[in-house]
Amino acid sequence: MDTAALYDSYLMKNYGKPPFAIARGEGSWVWDTEGRKYLDFICGIAVNTVGHSHPAWLRKVEEQLRQVVHVSNLFYVPGQAVLAKRIADQAGEGRSFFCNSGAEANEFLIKLARLWGRHKSGGKEGVCYHVLTAKNAFHGRTFGGMAATPQEKIQGGFRPMLDGFAYGDFNDVDSFAKLITPQTAAIMLETIQGEGGIVPATAEFLQGIRKLCDQHKLLLLIDEVQCGIGRTGSFFAYQQLGIEPDAIGMAKGLGGGFPIGATWVRRGYDELFTPGSHGTTYGGGPLACAAANAVLDIIEEENLLASVQQRSPVWHQQLRALVERYPQHLSAVRGRGYHVGLVVKGDPLEWSARFRAGGLLTVRGGSDVVRLMPPLTVTVSELNSCVTILDEVLANH
Ligand SMILES: Cc1ncc(COP(=O)(O)O)c(C=O)c1O
Repeated sequence: MDTAALYDSYLMKNYGKPPFAIARGEGSWVWDTEGRKYLDFICGIAVNTVGHSHPAWLRKVEEQLRQVVHVSNLFYVPGQAVLAKRIADQAGEGRSFFCNSGAEANEFLIKLARLWGRHKSGGKEGVCYHVLTAKNAFHGRTFGGMAATPQEKIQGGFRPMLDGFAYGDFNDVDSFAKLITPQTAAIMLETIQGEGGIVPATAEFLQGIRKLCDQHKLLLLIDEVQCGIGRTGSFFAYQQLGIEPDAIGMAKGLGGGFPIGATWVRRGYDELFTPGSHGTTYGGGPLACAAANAVLDIIEEENLLASVQQRSPVWHQQLRALVERYPQHLSAVRGRGYHVGLVVKGDPLEWSARFRAGGLLTVRGGSDVVRLMPPLTVTVSELNSCVTILDEVLANH
């Protein structure tokens, strides 16, 4: 059966047209159905943290698959308990809630803000519930996530949005300070704006926002769905910026390819949710938690955070050299670790297609950025291959 024809007839038209199907993957590489090989620097949009078909990941997922796949949260899930402890070891004393995606993890953050606002208002609802987010942010496609994402392409057609959101300028503390009213309950930010084109928050900005939150008793909610789980060389990207959030949304890289999302909440705010106040059928299931625990095992065993820290400066340097060599095509390199954006001149979709023809998979971010997000397991020689392919493609245009 012709996949493209079936797509044309039976799939919703909410995505762009895919160029081909990927038949298999190994490490940093994937093969299409024609047998053509590509260096995969999309990684399922920052998901395949430990590359494709990592043997240890496969073994642990397979073992769990044979034991029990799904039981619901009516029962203890031992892997969920272990995973929550491991997240707390990174984020600090607090508790986790598990779900299946980034949007759901952030939805929990927004619900937490509402519960906090009610608490602050002596139990009254609808008094303090506003959440401030940043222009150019991306927090997901649920009604909460869309309202938190002030972009026409996300909100258009779906209005009215959920009430109670206002938007400051990213990396501008004053613009947030001006938006705070007695109705404000929380500020929610990505540490690095990913879909917005790999725009890192400065330490000064996040520290200023932390101060504002402390002064006004607002929750600082950090969305690490894309930049978290080692991608920048620390477990969470914010850990390099001298702040402590009150809650964190994560997903994507946590499962290494198996869907899982999580929200961690700092001790002191964790009791805002009470039995029955939130839930999901699949969240934190045995298989998802086995996948996530396997990712965290591999990050530790293979010392992947240190590897990102050691390898990324040279790679960034090579990418900056390309910007100097091809000023007609590139204007900057942004990002941290393996969460990198090449700012291109011209259509990033077209550039991404050219790089793909050269054997490198990349994905657009924002209006002028091509994102490079290799697995944390990428080798030095593969990082060099990425630069060589980019160089060749840029030279030929
Ligand atoms: C920062 C951020 N938050 C939330 C989301 C939504 O995650 P999901 O697509 O898993 O719902 C994304 C997805 O790209 C993201 O990058």
